[in-house]
Amino acid sequence: MQVADLVARLTAANAEAEPHKGIVRVLKELKGDLDGVAEALAYIAGTGGNARQIFYRAPDLSLLKVRFPNGRRTPPHNHGCWAAILVLSGTERNHVYRRAEGGTLTLERKVDLGPGDIIYLPADGVHVAECSGDGDVIGLHVYGGDVLGLDRSMWDPDTVREEPLDWAKYETFAQRASAAQTAPLA
Ligand SMILES: [Fe+2]
Repeated sequence: MQVADLVARLTAANAEAEPHKGIVRVLKELKGDLDGVAEALAYIAGTGGNARQIFYRAPDLSLLKVRFPNGRRTPPHNHGCWAAILVLSGTERNHVYRRAEGGTLTLERKVDLGPGDIIYLPADGVHVAECSGDGDVIGLHVYGGDVLGLDRSMWDPDTVREEPLDWAKYETFAQRASAAQTAPLA
């Protein structure tokens, strides 16, 4: 598989009447060739922030390869649009939250993902993702918008207070989130 094939299949699915359903269907098809997807994306490290992870960017679709090393946990964040993640290798734990009164969150569910597993988050979805295995977890992340341009939120991992997502500050949130015993409210 070439990266152009991957982009062609996902952009075609995103042009369907219900883009997120088309995307999830293609991600399920890709489960049959995780190695092929990994090879097509081998040229991307997957670390260093969204701007270095992205390999296709349009107003209605963003495609990223994301790698979380062992010990890495995100702060709670949203994406400003729906999101679908296919795990290519490694294991990842997601904590999914719902917005609560006063800009804080309540924990909704915990989802463990391994190779071939998919998680879908609607546009109002908030989550924490963490590497739950010894090795890196690598995923194909699909977002139903321009994830680098949308207004997004992040939540302080200690106070669980909502703030506008600011990349200059995000890394300090991620480091505090990673140093904690568990995801917030878990
Ligand atoms: Fe995310």
